[in-house]
Amino acid sequence: MTIDLRGRSYLSELDFAATEIHHLLDLAAELKAAKHARTERPRLTGRNLALIFEKTSTRTRCAFEVAAADQGASTTYLGPGDTHIGAKESIVDTARVLGRMFDAIEYRGSDQTLVSELAAHSGVPVYNGLTDTAHPTQSLCDVLTMREHSSKPLPDIAYCYLGDARNNMGNSLLSMGSLLGMDVRIAAPRELWPAPALVAVCRALAERSGARLLLTEDADAAVRDADFLHTDVWVPMGEPADSWRGRIELLLPYRVSDKTLAATNNPDVKFMHCLPALHDRRTRLGRDLFGAYGLDGLEVTGDVFSSPASIVFDQAENRLHTIKAVLVATLED
Ligand code: CP
Ligand code: NVA
Repeated sequence: MTIDLRGRSYLSELDFAATEIHHLLDLAAELKAAKHARTERPRLTGRNLALIFEKTSTRTRCAFEVAAADQGASTTYLGPGDTHIGAKESIVDTARVLGRMFDAIEYRGSDQTLVSELAAHSGVPVYNGLTDTAHPTQSLCDVLTMREHSSKPLPDIAYCYLGDARNNMGNSLLSMGSLLGMDVRIAAPRELWPAPALVAVCRALAERSGARLLLTEDADAAVRDADFLHTDVWVPMGEPADSWRGRIELLLPYRVSDKTLAATNNPDVKFMHCLPALHDRRTRLGRDLFGAYGLDGLEVTGDVFSSPASIVFDQAENRLHTIKAVLVATLED
């Protein structure tokens, strides 16, 4: 079957069919091998990409910039506060302007409707570089990373996301696994589960894909026999600092520690995190939280983060290859 993604936007995992995600994963693997072998050839020469970041970024920005450069495209970075968006120009007018100048637009911000409006009005492919609702370039990377670190076919892989699951990463990992027919577990207090509407969509998808979905407050049950454990920060970008106390009270039982790894009963279990992670006192926030709560590491302990089970830097590298696959698939002539 020929898969043609030219001109398509990627606003959430569910914009693509499972076959299209598999196509992107295969293309990412091919592009990764070519880069490592220094045989990559540019397929996007002369394309211009706008990168709008209304929130800060290390990985996503660098992945888009390096991917574009590797493929012969140029990028224009528009950082937090660099544009008129929302202040004196609507997202719709911005979309109309940027669509006249650029071949594609990446957008990172809070509101999913903004990235949807960009796609609706720009006339060019738009990529969601993270909203409060979804982080689809990250979940694509996460599936490639799991595929690389497992000998099982994708549908046989079991993974558990522990933590604040009503957030972008919880939503995205639930959506992606449901689409691809995987064994997906969410371990979180009920008030931090993904929205019921998304869970309903994912359950319907699972009926077709064969995915097994478990949402539970019981972390030990959720991680049993899992191949991969995922977590994310407990207070995402944009939420007030005074959210920490309540979030810690709710999420401490879901912190990934040696005990969590042991509870999987799988000596080969791997730890994943989209990063940045709060796992030590080498950051200002890590030191502040240690001072306030005495916790050295929040969503993951330093021991697990630095253990042989941790594949977080392989995962971070894969942001580049998977974002490059999205660019090539949607923009190549
Ligand atoms: N994982 C991720 O999106 O990282 P950045 O915030 O650094 O882009
Ligand atoms: N959930 C985190 C992801 C950061 C890449 C956030 O939104 O801040």
